[in-house]
Amino acid sequence: MAASMQLLNLKPFQSHSTSTYLPQRHSRPLIIRCCSATSSAAKSYNITLLPGDGIGPEVISVAKNVLNLAASTQGIEFKFNEMPMGGAALDLTGVPLPEETLTAAKQSDAVLLGAIGGYKWDKNEKHLKPETGLLQLREGLKVFANLRPATVLPQLVDASTLKKEVAEGVDLMVVRELTGGIYFGKPRGFGTDENGEEIGFNTEVYAAYEIDRIARIAFETARKRSGKLCSVDKANVLEASMLWRKRVIAISEEYPDVELSHMYVDNAAMQLVRNPKQFDTIVTNNIFGDILSDEASMITGSIGMLPSASLGASGPGLFEPIHGSAPDIAGQDKANPLATILSAAMLLKYGLGEVKAAERIELAVLDTLNRGFRTGDIYSPGNILVGCKEMGEQVLKSLDTKVPASSVV
Ligand SMILES: NC(=O)c1ccc[n+]([C@@H]2O[C@H](COP(=O)([O-])OP(=O)(O)OC[C@H]3O[C@@H](n4cnc5c(N)ncnc54)[C@H](O)[C@@H]3O)[C@@H](O)[C@H]2O)c1
Repeated sequence: MAASMQLLNLKPFQSHSTSTYLPQRHSRPLIIRCCSATSSAAKSYNITLLPGDGIGPEVISVAKNVLNLAASTQGIEFKFNEMPMGGAALDLTGVPLPEETLTAAKQSDAVLLGAIGGYKWDKNEKHLKPETGLLQLREGLKVFANLRPATVLPQLVDASTLKKEVAEGVDLMVVRELTGGIYFGKPRGFGTDENGEEIGFNTEVYAAYEIDRIARIAFETARKRSGKLCSVDKANVLEASMLWRKRVIAISEEYPDVELSHMYVDNAAMQLVRNPKQFDTIVTNNIFGDILSDEASMITGSIGMLPSASLGASGPGLFEPIHGSAPDIAGQDKANPLATILSAAMLLKYGLGEVKAAERIELAVLDTLNRGFRTGDIYSPGNILVGCKEMGEQVLKSLDTKVPASSVV
């Protein structure tokens, strides 16, 4: 059970300094005990909720209830400010990230996002796509570090597409650079080449300071976990990767206790499915991190289980499940809300430093899984198949009856 407690395997985010908001393993098992303590709210936080599109509103609604219950027993009160974003904002205001939404997000203590996107807006011009709004939000909040844990829970090992012996015990963290690289690099656009052929082009570009700051976060992360960091690049081909590797090696001198290795991205993609247990912390650029963290997510069984935190040097963090808006199941009460609920736990832990409330949520999720409840994406015979709302109700039930608050520090 102790291993399964390491759901997020992270250290609380106490302040916005890069040296203190970093992940670590729990050093001791947590105990579940019953109590009914409630207190009047002593602390109040402003949370911007961005439900977005598709299954976004379904999972955010569940996560909001979970946040409220977990917080209330810790004397915390939330003031939620729900704002339009993505396709919902396009329909309402004509842009994917209205100025009011960005301002509200910047002024809040933390931001919880559901998901954006959908078939309806797929043919829009680029600046009118929901995904553009998400990039603008990350850029606007200056959240350059994206932390994506991928942990195979003992309860869900059979949901992995990999053989049990390969998947069992996988517990890794992808640290992805989020505001640089080819997704933002200029020049970019469309044009014509010297033969009159139509072309599309983008630029993979990194400045040394962008690599240094993400490398430090990755080294600190690895230090708090098993002390192993693998930097993934394509330094055999790309100049931006050559600089990446040079800077990561330079920063490694500040962390002599962390074992640094390097891997080309094509090999890393193979190794993740061949022997994922060889990895502890991976640091990589924006586009490689995007792809590798989705690949890592499938090892754990479902994209519906995985949370993420995006943090900057100061200001509110952005917390979101790694999945998209899942238009194929939207509005059908089939979405797994656990990735968003666990993102809410990361919000408490990293965004607000409310560790006890975060751990209550993590334990409630584990308890719900232990009681056999599963949404379709993680279902296997012998479990109890439930929808998004019922899964949320069951997590609330676990929160209500299993109260670890008095037993965790
Ligand atoms: N951060 C984001 O908001 C984000 C991330 C990725 C994709 N998108 C957008 O989402 C839309 C759909 O993209 P996609 O289909 O490539 O990816 P997706 O993550 O939405 O869905 C991929 C598959 O996983 C399933 N799935 C996803 N989340 C699930 C959950 N919580 N529970 C159960 N099943 C779940 C879906 O049903 C689908 O079969 C696109 O418009 C894309 O641009 C948004």
